[in-house]
Formats: sequence, C-alpha cells, structure tokens
Amino acid sequence: MIPLPLARIAEITSGALTGMADPRAVVRGPVVIDSRAAVPGSLFVAFKGDRADGHDFAAQAVEAGAVAVLAERPVEAPAVIVGDTMAALAALATAVCAELTGSTVIGVTGSAGKTTTKDLLARLTARIGPTIAPVGSFNNEIGHPLTVLKADETTRYQVLELSARGVGHIAELARIAPPKIGVVLNVGTAHLGVFGGREAIAQAKGELVEALPADGVAVLNADDPLVAAMAERTAARVTWYGRAASAAVRAEGVTVDDRGRASFTLRTPSGAAPVSLRLYGEHAVENALAAAAAAYELGLPVATIAEELSEAEPRSRWRMEVSDRADGVTVINDAYNANPDSMRAAFGALDALAGARRRFAVVASLQELGEESDALNEGVGRLAGGAGLTGLVVVGDGAGPILAGARAAGAVPGVLGGGEASAPRDGARTVVACVPDAGAAAAALEAALAPGDVVLVKGPRVAGLERVAEALLGGDRR
Ligand SMILES: Nc1ncnc2c1ncn2[C@@H]1O[C@H](COP(=O)(O)OP(=O)(O)OP(=O)(O)O)[C@@H](O)[C@H]1O
Ligand SMILES: [Mg+2]
Repeated sequence: MIPLPLARIAEITSGALTGMADPRAVVRGPVVIDSRAAVPGSLFVAFKGDRADGHDFAAQAVEAGAVAVLAERPVEAPAVIVGDTMAALAALATAVCAELTGSTVIGVTGSAGKTTTKDLLARLTARIGPTIAPVGSFNNEIGHPLTVLKADETTRYQVLELSARGVGHIAELARIAPPKIGVVLNVGTAHLGVFGGREAIAQAKGELVEALPADGVAVLNADDPLVAAMAERTAARVTWYGRAASAAVRAEGVTVDDRGRASFTLRTPSGAAPVSLRLYGEHAVENALAAAAAAYELGLPVATIAEELSEAEPRSRWRMEVSDRADGVTVINDAYNANPDSMRAAFGALDALAGARRRFAVVASLQELGEESDALNEGVGRLAGGAGLTGLVVVGDGAGPILAGARAAGAVPGVLGGGEASAPRDGARTVVACVPDAGAAAAALEAALAPGDVVLVKGPRVAGLERVAEALLGGDRR
C-alpha cells in the first residue's frame, strides 16, 4: 500500500482521530480485518459481524503492531472513528487507487470461471510488470478494497475479480478501482434466485463494461449471446474471444486428452501458437481465451501467452482437482461451488476423463436458484442419471428434485455397494443413494469403489463436499 499518515486517512474517510492517535503516524499496510493478521504498519479495520465484533480485538491488533484502528466507536487504542467502516474502507481504496496513475486495472466478471481466469491473467501480466490480484475469490465489498489497498507505486497491473449479488454491485466495485480493461466471461444461472432472472444477471455483469472509458477495452465472449449484447453498453473498444471464427482471439482445433485437459491452437490477430492446458475440463478453454485476449490487448506476444497458459496449474483449491489414489481410483474434486452450468461442465469433464472406466458422482442440491430451483435441480438429476454412472450419491436435505430427475433418466434408488452397484454390467442402471452428510457419502462410496473407478465430487459451497473428496483421498492428501 502507499504510505499514508493517519491525518490523511482521517481526511479521506471523513473520520476523527481518537485514543491519542498521532496524526503523523504512517500506515504502510497491509490493511487487515482480522487482528491476528496485523503486523507493524497495518491498519486494522473493525467490522461488526454476526458472530464477532472487530472492535473487541482493537487492542490486540495494535499490540501486534497495527498503527491504528478504523472503527465506528472509540476503542482502547489509537483510532480513526468513522460512521461506517465499510464505506470508509471503500473511500480509502478509491483514494489510493486514484493516486496510482501508473497502474492498469483489469476487471473480470461472469457467472463461472472468474477466479480461474483471474489467476491465469495475473500470471500473464506478471510477465510484463508487478501485478496484484486477490487471493482466491476475494471479490466482494470487503475483499475488493482490501486487494486494491495492496497496490503501491510499483504496481503496474491490478487483476481484480468482481462479483455481483445484485444490480449496482459491480458498478460500485468499478467505482472504487476504475477498470481500463473489462472481461466478461458468461451469463449463467449462478445466484439466479438472488437476481430473479438471467436478464437481471446480464444487467448486473454488464455494469463492468459500462464503467470502461472510451480508450478502454471490453473483452467479451463471442459465444455467449447475453455477453455479446453487452457490446452495445460500452464506450470502449470491443475485443471478442471464443470458438466462433469471428472472434479475434480464438481456439482452433480443440482436442481433449484422456485426463480431460484441452489442447488447441491459440489464434490472435498477431499470430498463433499451440497451447496445452494443465487445467482440467474443456470449459477451461473459454477461461484461457479470455485471459489471452486481455493479455493480447496489453501487448504480450502470443508465444508468451501460449507458454504461460500451458504452464499454469490450478491455483485455487477444490476446483477441478484431479487426484489418483494408490489403488487406481481417480477423484475429481470440484466441490468449491456449483450451479447448473458448472455442473454440466463438471459432468463433461468426468465423461472425458472416465472413458470406459466406472463412474461415480457425489452431488448436493443447488442453492440460491429461486423459483426455478426445483426444475433446475431436477435437471441436475437428469444430467447425472444420464451420465453413465454406476452410482450416484446425493448428499443432504432437499435431495427430492435431484432424485426425481435421476429416476426420470432411468436411475434406480438403492444402496451403493449392494447388489447391482457392486457388479455393474454394460447397460446396468445407475443406482442412486441419498445420504445425510459427507461422512455417510464417503462411507457409501468406499463400499462400492473398485480399482480404476472415477469419482466426481461436485456441489454448492454450503454442502462442503470437499470433505467427501478428502475422506476418499485419506486425510488432506490432495
Ligand atoms: N467457463 C466456465 N464455464 C462453466 N463452468 C466453469 C467455467 N469456468 C469454471 N467453471 C466451473 O465453475 C466453478 C467455479 O470456478 P471459478 O472459481 O473459476 O469461478 P468463479 O466465477 O470465481 O466462482 P465464484 O463466483 O464462486 O467466485 C468450478 O466448478 C469450475 O469448474
Ligand atoms: Mg471466484
């Protein structure tokens, strides 16, 4: 972060110094919201959460070296008192970002693939200048300003993940760190219930390109009609990526190996180069193309882009992690989160990876889908029921619609490892079992698994299905 004296922080946040805070004391960062993360030079931001109140940890943060606390009421430590710490954090990030005129902000949004694309792009920009990017999915009203505040005068690129749970959210994040390049991946069904429809999701995601200046670049997915329509909503130049022949940055001759990893020729207006991804699942091609298109706009040679994309390993946990057990069972852990689109992508990856091997899947009911929830979960059941599985395990409450969909696709309720599932024949029907929790799911699978089998683990964040994958792999071996 750029060094800021407390007096300046008070000015930016319209705050008042208390607790004998020295106006000349300089905050050098990092700005933290967990007192245990405070180090000399930190600013500790006190948030009042559901379970804990940061104000109670103010003294602890200062003991650990924090210069002061950004707080809503006086605490037993030097503090800048503001009306609303969230707004003050945003104001601070906005001011810092405005001072960093030598740094280019690149925003990434979409329903699925933001973190993957952000990680790929940050890897690419790091080749041409110091880059900051959030860890994992730090993409909301707290994570976003905290990430921006990590930047300093040496930062050339800020690769940010922007997420929305409603109209206006992305506009607000873009106001804090005005992007020069905006990447929109797709408009899917994630958080459908929160938004109330795909049109509303498109409206919200499009706020990113609306925020771009005339000399900026909108990097848009030519293959997604709702994203393509966003070209009308931006003053910036548009660069298209995708499979379509009309896309400036595109993948040609895509093939998928027996582990589900894609290879293709990356074509840009300035040349072409071969890419072999280490990321699993064919949908990684879209994310790689989006990152490539943004990097192309920043002037990276296509050979460098292709080389970096080919070297990138998955950076963020529980997203398409493929592990082999000693007995030859392969576990695909995609338990980080799920929505109808990423569920389809995951079953596609299972299909590519499993080939003729026996397939199992562990899923849980998708959340936040609003009125269409039952219908979409039934769709998940039909997808799983028609995926050539030997066994399907549905974990937790609300399994009804998935079960109904799976049965409609020909699956039969039963016990894994008992009778049919343990001795599948060609054309045998998928056995579907409903279990209460991750432990029961792992136990049910262990009873049925044989060397050579492939298991896909995929569900929404709240279901915590990574515990199933971890149990299958023995402890936390990944
Ligand atoms: N282009 C894509 N199309 C469909 N599914 C995808 C795509 N990219 C990633 N996924 C799947 O979506 C899930 C989340 O991926 P990732 O973390 O990159 O997305 P995200 O947009 O950052 O998600 P979040 O909103 O939870 O932060 C993973 O299961 C991944 O396999
Ligand atoms: Mg994310």
